[in-house]
Amino acid sequence: MTELICPVCGEVLTLTDRTYKCKSNHCFDTAKEGYVNLLTGSHKPGSETGDNKDMAQCRREFLSEGYFDALVRGIIEFIKEKALPRPVIADICCGEGYYGDRIKNEIDCEMLGFDLSKEMVRLAAKRKNGITYFVGNLSRIPLKDKSVDIALHLFAPFHEKEFSRIIKDDGCILNVVAGENHLFELKELLYDTPYKNDEKPPETAKLTLSQRRKITARVHLKSNRDIMALFKMTPYYYHTRDEDKAKLRNIDSLDITTEFVVFIYTK
Ligand SMILES: C[S@@+](CC[C@H](N)C(=O)[O-])C[C@H]1O[C@@H](n2cnc3c(N)ncnc32)[C@H](O)[C@@H]1O
Ligand SMILES: [Zn+2]
Repeated sequence: MTELICPVCGEVLTLTDRTYKCKSNHCFDTAKEGYVNLLTGSHKPGSETGDNKDMAQCRREFLSEGYFDALVRGIIEFIKEKALPRPVIADICCGEGYYGDRIKNEIDCEMLGFDLSKEMVRLAAKRKNGITYFVGNLSRIPLKDKSVDIALHLFAPFHEKEFSRIIKDDGCILNVVAGENHLFELKELLYDTPYKNDEKPPETAKLTLSQRRKITARVHLKSNRDIMALFKMTPYYYHTRDEDKAKLRNIDSLDITTEFVVFIYTK
């Protein structure tokens, strides 16, 4: 099992009963759902740090309908191509744990997942799927240097220093951003001049962008509830005027493009 390290001093954490403790006596308790909260001091979660309960619930509802199945299939295919014996996979900014769960069901691996949001991790841990979940900040990932074969990093902030530190010399980061046409039909409904996404890979001097794969699929959103859950998962929701939001009120189904760009970074 991959060991966790103390986010305060970097020493290995040992689990006794339900408490993780390092040599310097920094202690972190396991929550009843089974995850461990490794945030300390200024890293404590609040409404500004990590996604809130409503965002977590929308993500859970929408993703569990399988609308982003093409992306999951693409990621699983990539991991299978690598043919690693029981790889260590870290789902960085794992959200409510959908992707890690799907992958773990199909690939024999050791999976760890973490996110800054306690609400997200709480939902993820309720899956009880053998994945080690913790609340943590990607600016201080509590994993040892060179301990991870594949780091998954979907729709979240990038941190080149920590990513290059935790992956093995032959490891990789699988970063996913929205493709240019992703959810374009939703934007057409909301805005007079909808724009396309720019598909820019995160910039980094520490890692090498070694592959780029594009995944496109049309999906049929079957209810207003699913449309609203999707909308609330996007950053647009928080930047859209109420009168524009109201345009979705009577839409009960929608054919929509999902499009993702997967960037593979290596050392
Ligand atoms: C758009 S969501 C994506 C979640 C998940 N990867 C998915 O695709 O379902 C972005 C996630 O990044 C998390 N996040 C934001 N800043 C973070 C940080 N500094 N450290 C760890 N997680 C962070 C948020 O709490 C949120 O769950
Ligand atoms: Zn410590």
